[in-house]
Formats: sequence, C-alpha cells, structure tokens
Amino acid sequence: MKRLKLAILISGRGSNMEALLEAATDPSYPAEPVLVASNRPDAKGLETAASAGIATASVDHKLYGKDRESFERALNAALEKAGTEIIALAGFMRVLTPWFVTRWEGRMINIHPSLLPKYKGLHTHQRAIEAGDAEGGCSVHWVSTGVDEGKVIAQARVPILPGDTEDSLAARVLVEEHKLYPRALAMACEQILAD
Ligand code: GAR
Repeated sequence: MKRLKLAILISGRGSNMEALLEAATDPSYPAEPVLVASNRPDAKGLETAASAGIATASVDHKLYGKDRESFERALNAALEKAGTEIIALAGFMRVLTPWFVTRWEGRMINIHPSLLPKYKGLHTHQRAIEAGDAEGGCSVHWVSTGVDEGKVIAQARVPILPGDTEDSLAARVLVEEHKLYPRALAMACEQILAD
C-alpha cells in the first residue's frame, strides 16, 4: 500500500506532531513522516522529532523580516527536498500566503482548537467559555487561502464544565486533538490516494 510522504510543520511543543509520528509507526498507516520543520529554531518539538529519528529543518521566519513569501520559499525548498506529498500543520503559528497555500492546495491540512466555523484565529477556548457554549472541541481541515476556513475533515467535541478556565478546557481538548489528528490525516491521505 502506498504511503504519502508526510511533512509536519510546528512552531513549539509539538504534542500533535508526536501523536502523528506515533500513528505512523504502524507500517499500514497511509503517511510516512519524512520531515518535521519549524519556523522557530528553538521549538521543543524539533528535539522530539530528532530523537524519534525523523529528519528536521528549521527556517527562522525572523531572518526574513516582513517578507513572508521569501520565508515560505525557503521552507518550500526544504519540503520539496524531502519529497513531501502531504503537509500537516501541527501548532504552526504563521499565517501562510496565497502563494504557499496554492502550491500545496489539496495537500495540506491543519488542526485548529475549536469547532469550526466557530472561533477562527486565536484564544479559541477563552472565546467559547465567554460565549457560554456548552461544548468546545477541535477541527482538522484542508488549508485554503482564508485563515481557518478550509473544508472540515473531522471534528471532536468535549463538554465545557462549570468553572472551566482557558487552560482546563485547552487540556481537555488537547486529549481529543491527539486522537483526532491521526484519524483525520489518514482520511486525508486516503482521499488523495483515491483521486
Ligand atoms: C494545539 O492545541 C493546536 O490545535 C493549536 O496549537 C496547539 C499546538 O500544540 N493550533 C492553533 O492554534 C493553530 N491556529 P502542540 O504544539 O502541542 O501540538
């Protein structure tokens, strides 16, 4: 069975990345990690990936100032060199330009900590609590040029409990993210392989 060459883009801790790497240790999983790359050279997840024997790259966005596209061209060169066929954004905290999104259209997915279309952008858990929502959750979606606007692949829901804080809700959602992302990435790969 064909496995798509997977690059995971991170900016920090990388716990979702770890969940994907763990799922991909199964040889029947439809994605095979070839690269973990970060826009932050000090991202903790880079060390975790290297210890798991995965190639890593860091492309420091700060070296490119306001020139987002030059940063992305350097990142893209690393992705192409690794033979990337699908990208999973996992806590990658840079907004991508239409150039990069178009380059990887139909080949790039993201995990977002809300029940999209609710709460695109930042501070999703705080906004859900303030709105008095009964549920929070997370979504995996295809990346399109509008931020957090691409078609949803799968979602997971958790209750919002009395006394929840941003941190307690984030922790409850994160447990679900780690289960949802490997499942949704497999669905995305199967869709690409079926086309
Ligand atoms: C995750 O909760 C992810 O959903 C969120 O950042 C966290 C990264 O944690 N992503 C976004 O907010 C994207 N806009 P991780 O580095 O441990 O996976």
